[in-house]
Amino acid sequence: MDVPQTVTVALEDRPVDGATCLEAGAGVGNATAGLLANGARRVYAITNDGDHATMVRERIGRAEADRTAVIEADLTNTPLAADSVDLITAHALFNVLPPSALSAVVEELTRVAAPGCHLVIDDYEPLPEDAAVSDLFAVQNAAAEIAAGRPAMTFYPSAVLRRLFAGYGWAFERERTLLDPVPWTASHVEAHANAARSRATELTVELGDPLIAEVDRLVDAIGSESAGTMYSVVMRRLD
Ligand SMILES: C[S@@+](CC[C@H](N)C(=O)[O-])C[C@H]1O[C@@H](n2cnc3c(N)ncnc32)[C@H](O)[C@@H]1O
Repeated sequence: MDVPQTVTVALEDRPVDGATCLEAGAGVGNATAGLLANGARRVYAITNDGDHATMVRERIGRAEADRTAVIEADLTNTPLAADSVDLITAHALFNVLPPSALSAVVEELTRVAAPGCHLVIDDYEPLPEDAAVSDLFAVQNAAAEIAAGRPAMTFYPSAVLRRLFAGYGWAFERERTLLDPVPWTASHVEAHANAARSRATELTVELGDPLIAEVDRLVDAIGSESAGTMYSVVMRRLD
């Protein structure tokens, strides 16, 4: 299984070997692949998206099925026991969590974390104001806000997440930069454009069509762009 460089760098100073791990927000399972490659005893890969769960199961295949449990659940209410996890990864999770979900997710991650648990949060700093991709994300958020009442993406500063977890009894251990700048490739741009178009089609034609036209214009104007930074923060749960 290929492990992206960002995951490799984020995990290289963590004691994964023999650990019980949780990939919070499994997506395509990049962190799960990294945890398995680094010798995790067991990985719980949790996502609330059934298609993602299927993708992760296919990615790990039979060879790693014994060490991995892919669980479709909400991170505010997981089937994991209290104090049961040695290491948690939140690799690109927080940017898809709306502010309204933050405290419930942090509470649940704290509940399942064993004393001394390592938490690796890898995410994006808010983009510079002149980043062209910000305009695309703004339209994606506008469509999501109107259709579902919450943003599609929120870039939380590392300092904010550090203080939030500190308030739940976690101690800061280290921070490093994973990407500077972040390469938003043409396929990333197209994926965000498609997500925005999909949300816009849920709206009335009067609201949705202008948003779709703006998405199309922005995709042509942006192409690809390198902007912003991705950080990796480690916190430890105090005993
Ligand atoms: C961008 S992906 C994460 C990428 C992944 N960690 C990786 O390294 O490949 C975000 C994931 O978090 C999941 N997610 C978002 N909110 C969630 C919630 N409240 N409960 C469970 N999963 C959630 C999404 O369904 C998606 O699978």
